Amino acid sequence: MTYFDKNTVKLSHQHMKAHLNKGDTVVDATAGRGRDTLLLSQLVGDGGKVYAFDIQEEAINSTKALLEENGRQNVTLILDSHHKMKDYVKSARAVVFNLGFLPGGDHSIFSHGETSIKAIESALDILEEDGFISVCVYHGGDTGFEERDTVLEYLERLDQKKYTVMLHSFHNRQGYPPLFLVIEKNR
Ligand SMILES: C[S@@+](CC[C@H](N)C(=O)[O-])C[C@H]1O[C@@H](n2cnc3c(N)ncnc32)[C@H](O)[C@@H]1O
Repeated sequence: MTYFDKNTVKLSHQHMKAHLNKGDTVVDATAGRGRDTLLLSQLVGDGGKVYAFDIQEEAINSTKALLEENGRQNVTLILDSHHKMKDYVKSARAVVFNLGFLPGGDHSIFSHGETSIKAIESALDILEEDGFISVCVYHGGDTGFEERDTVLEYLERLDQKKYTVMLHSFHNRQGYPPLFLVIEKNR
């Protein structure tokens, strides 16, 4: 595997492809335009299940259209904040976050550190024993650094006896390349 032709979203997709199985139940915590939801739907297959959240109707509609175009029927779309995922999902093999704002949408609506932490805590509660959480974190630009700092500080304090947290960054790339984090439960 090489990294030079990768970006953060490609890293997260590669991670999903390597770790998900047919029949898994998974959560897309930030549906957006539906690209992650579509991949999750294909990876878990018709015997699996995807729950996809977004707070914006525009995102839910975009995701619905993309799923329909691709004939995918194993996804439940939920117009609600991801920090309430436990109201909808009892257990999941994976919960993926691609934080920030809706691409091509209103940049003033974006995810925020405090809510994202509550959502990650909920995801930890419903995570199956061999499951993972992945998080793409954007910083700089329109959203600043608040969410990155809040999420990184929270994850740094997760009990290392219970969880392993990996942080991937394109360290020598200019600007503020997004970060990719993976959280696993220790077995
Ligand atoms: C970078 S986009 C996601 C991209 C998407 N996964 C895709 O493949 O196109 C981030 C999304 O998170 C959503 N979002 C922000 N805060 C949220 C929250 N509290 N709960 C659920 N979604 C949220 C935004 O509305 C936006 O659509």
